[in-house]
Amino acid sequence: MKTRNSIKVLFVCLGNICRSPTAHGVFQHLIEQEGLSGLIEVDSAGTHAYHVKEPPDRRAQQAALKREVDLSPLRARRATADDFDVFDYVLAMDRENLANLEQICPKGMEYKLGLFLSYAPDLGVSEVPDPYYGGTAGFDRVLDLIEDASRGLISHLRKEHKL
Ligand code: 4NP
Repeated sequence: MKTRNSIKVLFVCLGNICRSPTAHGVFQHLIEQEGLSGLIEVDSAGTHAYHVKEPPDRRAQQAALKREVDLSPLRARRATADDFDVFDYVLAMDRENLANLEQICPKGMEYKLGLFLSYAPDLGVSEVPDPYYGGTAGFDRVLDLIEDASRGLISHLRKEHKL
């Protein structure tokens, strides 16, 4: 029997310690709940190297844990041009990071790039705001946006790839 290759999704923000690990954890959690483990693989990365090898920001971990999502095993890494060979979807949290990714994207791979919140068009916002310099409410807001876009992305993948 022919086995299906998994669909690979990469979430990208600036530091890979707040927004993209949150998206990584929330989306992974949803995939497991929906019985899609093994069909979809998830990772996250940052466009800058400030926090490489660090675990997610403590505030991001605490906010996610309130929703039963454990981010503690994740470690920050920097996005590379090779990621465009590996991943089918490379989704940026905001336009600044989309522009950073465009700089390293090999020719012909641009179709893989997009804004994560484009999968939640009803939200009326297109970027996940950077919560790093703000208070805890910013991290809850990040989770709300990411939960909506994760559900939208799952329905897109179900339709597009007949999962
Ligand atoms: P992230 O948040 O891009 O969501 O991980 C940030 C983390 C660190 C910094 C900025 C944003 N920083 O300037 O160190």
